[in-house]
Amino acid sequence: MSDAAEIRAQLAARQKNHALPRSLYCDEAVFQADLAHVFAREWLFAVPACQLVKAGDYATLQIGAYPVIVVRGADGMIRAFHNVCRHRGQRLCAKSTGSTPKLVCPYHQWTYDLDGKLLWAKDMQEDFDPRAHGLKKVHCVDIGGMVFICLADVPPPIADLAGALGRYLAPSGLKEARVAHVSTIIEKGNWKLVLENNRECYHCGGAHPSLCRTYSDNPRMTAMDGPDAASPDILAHWQRCEAAGLPSRFVNHPDMQWRLARIPLLNNADSYTMSTKPAVRGKRMGTIPFNDAGSLLFFHYPNTWNHFLADHAIVFRVLPVSATETEVTTTWLVPGDAVEGVDYDLKELTEVWLATNDEDRQVVEENQVGIRSPAYVPGPYSLVQEEGVIQFVDWYCNTLGARLGPDPALAAE
Ligand code: FES
Ligand SMILES: [Fe+2]
Repeated sequence: MSDAAEIRAQLAARQKNHALPRSLYCDEAVFQADLAHVFAREWLFAVPACQLVKAGDYATLQIGAYPVIVVRGADGMIRAFHNVCRHRGQRLCAKSTGSTPKLVCPYHQWTYDLDGKLLWAKDMQEDFDPRAHGLKKVHCVDIGGMVFICLADVPPPIADLAGALGRYLAPSGLKEARVAHVSTIIEKGNWKLVLENNRECYHCGGAHPSLCRTYSDNPRMTAMDGPDAASPDILAHWQRCEAAGLPSRFVNHPDMQWRLARIPLLNNADSYTMSTKPAVRGKRMGTIPFNDAGSLLFFHYPNTWNHFLADHAIVFRVLPVSATETEVTTTWLVPGDAVEGVDYDLKELTEVWLATNDEDRQVVEENQVGIRSPAYVPGPYSLVQEEGVIQFVDWYCNTLGARLGPDPALAAE
C-alpha cells in the first residue's frame, strides 16, 4: 500500500468523536503528509508585525524542510522569502531574529535588497541576469498586526479571515505594541497533540493552578454556538464590550478553521496574573476601554492561538519539528510606550503563561509516551468538555483526507 493509501485507510477507519489512531500521532509518513498537505498549504502565523520594528528587522522560521525569512523593507512593508540563496542554495540567515541593511549570503556574499532583489554578485559572467535570481517569494500578509505566510503557489482564500480579524484586532493595539518577551520551547509530542491540548480545558483544573485563578475551566462558561448563542455571562460581556466599541461576539469560519470571541476572565479578573490585576499598570492596549475586557480568543488552524487582553497580548505559534517534536513560540506584547520596570514587571507579566506552557508541555509529552505504546486504544472525547478537540480533529482529518484525494479503489467501483 502507498503512504497515501495507508493514511487514507487510517483516516477512514477512525472512530468519530474519539482520539486518533496511534499512527496519526507517531508515523513519519503521516508527519510528511501533514507537512506537505497542511503546513505547506495553509496560511501560517509567523510573527507579530510589531516585532519587526524598522527596515531590515527580520525573523526566520523553519516549516518542515522550508527555511523562511520574514523581513521589513525600506518601504515599511513586511515580506517573506525562502531563506535560500539563489547561487548555490546557502541558508541566508541562520539567526532566529536580527537586523540587517541588506541580506548578504554568508557563503559568497551575493547581496539582496530587503525586497528580495539581487543587488550584487561578484565575478559573474556577462550573460548572468541578476533579475532572474532574486529571492523566491513566500506569500505574506499582515492582518491587524499579525503576519501570516503561505508556502503554497496558490494560497487558500484569506479575505474572510482578514476582514474579521482586522476588525476584531483594530482596538487591541497590536500594531503599536512592543515585544516584551519571547519564549520558545520544544514539546516532545506530535503537533496535533499540542493543538488538541489547547482546544480543551478538561485538563486545566488538574494541570494549571496558576491559570485557573483567572481562566474559567467551566465548559459552559466558554461554550458558544454563534454570535447570539452563549451562556448569559458571555452574552452580557459581549453586550458591554460591543457597546464600548470592542467587537466581541463569536465569529468563525464555516469549517471552523478559525474562531474569534471575547470571553470574560474568572470573577472579572483583569489579566492573566497571579494577583488577577493588570500586569501593565496605568496603560492599556490600543483603545480597549476598560481593564476587565477579558480576553479576545483567536485560533487559526493549524498553528496559532492567541489571547488579547486589556493590558497585554499573548500570541502563540506552533511549528512541527518531527513526528514527535513541536516548537511552541509564545510572544508577550505590551503597549508600545510601556517600560519594563516602570509600567510592568516582566516576571509578573509572564509567570502565569510560562508556567502554563510548561504544564502543557508535560501533559503533551506524557500523552505522546502513552500513545506510542502498542497497548494504546483511542478513547472517546467528552462531548461536554472536548467539543473543541473534536472540531479540530475533524478539521484536520477532513483537510488531510481531501488533499490525499479520493481512494482510487473506491473510485474504480
Ligand atoms: S551560496 Fe549564496 S553566495 Fe554562494
Ligand atoms: Fe493547558
